[in-house]
Amino acid sequence: MSRLLLVSLLAVAAAAPSSVSPQNEALFTEEIPEPQYLFENHNPDVTDSGLELFESDMVLTEEQKLDRKAAPNLWPGGQVKYAITSTSVPDRAAIEAALNHWRQHTCVTFTEVSASFAGEPHLRFSKQSGCWSYVGRTGWTSGQDVSIGTGCTGLGTIAHEVGHALGFNHEQSRPDRNNYVTILTGNIQDGRSGNFAIASNANNYSVPYDYTSVMHYGSTYFTKNGQPTIQVNQLQYSGLIGSRTGLSHRDKQLANAMYSCAASCSSPPACQNGGYVSKACSCVCPPGTSGSRCQTVTAPYYGSICGNQAITSAGTVSSINWPSIYPRNQNCFWIVTAPAGRRVRITFNTAKVLYRYSDGNCYWDWINLYTNSDNSADVNACGSELQGKTYTTTGNRLALEMHTYAGGSYPSLQTGFTASVSFV
Ligand SMILES: *[C@@H]1O[C@H](CO)[C@@H](O)[C@H](O)[C@H]1NC(C)=O
Ligand SMILES: [Zn+2]
Repeated sequence: MSRLLLVSLLAVAAAAPSSVSPQNEALFTEEIPEPQYLFENHNPDVTDSGLELFESDMVLTEEQKLDRKAAPNLWPGGQVKYAITSTSVPDRAAIEAALNHWRQHTCVTFTEVSASFAGEPHLRFSKQSGCWSYVGRTGWTSGQDVSIGTGCTGLGTIAHEVGHALGFNHEQSRPDRNNYVTILTGNIQDGRSGNFAIASNANNYSVPYDYTSVMHYGSTYFTKNGQPTIQVNQLQYSGLIGSRTGLSHRDKQLANAMYSCAASCSSPPACQNGGYVSKACSCVCPPGTSGSRCQTVTAPYYGSICGNQAITSAGTVSSINWPSIYPRNQNCFWIVTAPAGRRVRITFNTAKVLYRYSDGNCYWDWINLYTNSDNSADVNACGSELQGKTYTTTGNRLALEMHTYAGGSYPSLQTGFTASVSFV
């Protein structure tokens, strides 16, 4: 069972174990409460509005429809006027929070005008069906709508729609997206595959692809069966897409480049390693770097993923802290790559994590194995189910994912796994 399927099944089953008590309470120093699930907003972009929506929350002007290669029009000088029309007045605080977020991290200015304003292009926030926006500045002097419908008032969601209005496409529409994600067309709702099209017009302004972009779809957007529609090619980063917490570093970097925010700096610093020059003329450094020019790299952009994703020799693979208790609230990956033409064989000498619940699910801890070359887990185990087991991959890659429960106290019995890995 794939991890993603598992997540959705868990979500469905969330109500089932209403008072989960461990089968052997003596093993636990405290009762394990009902698991907490990550509920994904599966269709944040869906709308039934009469407007024809491209990629579900983007509206293209007739001109843009005719020529998707045309770059989106930007707002001259990064100056954007906006009106909060009557239906959006109750959401004013949420809209202002998202605009402040853009103001804080870019040189784009947002100036409020009245709802009756006309004569110059501007944004008109309103509560219509769904969350959607035009891409870039349409140029209409009567203004262009941005719909903040029901369920759309999260900071990241409004920031996403404002991003479209500023000229952002979806991250997974980038021309280079196939290097980073795989679109699983067979799982997409009928008639919705256009949502996953590539925007060949997109200028990347030399900003790399970003799984954490607020403009990236989540893994199950527009799924017809609960299975992923987007798979991350680098398995260990699967959990990063669909973030709606706010602008990522590279979102800010891209906006600063699009709107030439450093243009007024007399001697802008030469930022390194993905840093960019802010409107304040200093380097803003990406996660994992520091120094006035971001010259010191301490961690990868996405942070260090626990485990080891670069194993290329035979040997032993063990969970964190083995043979002591593994840390809780982790999602670790071990990725073993055999020389071309050979396969990876793994034998679990010890495997002990929290058990499978009586409804058949691994709610607290689990170990997933990816023994095929695709990025769907084909073994989902918990308890001591893997103890003594051997698996051989079909290709030259084996991935092992270990998820550990965030809460509760572990008994000392739960020490994780140790396994021998060889190439055959
Ligand atoms: C930006 O796009 C160009 C042209 O498609 C490509 O060669 C380049 O690698 C891209 N840059 C980054 C940082 O992804
Ligand atoms: Zn969108």
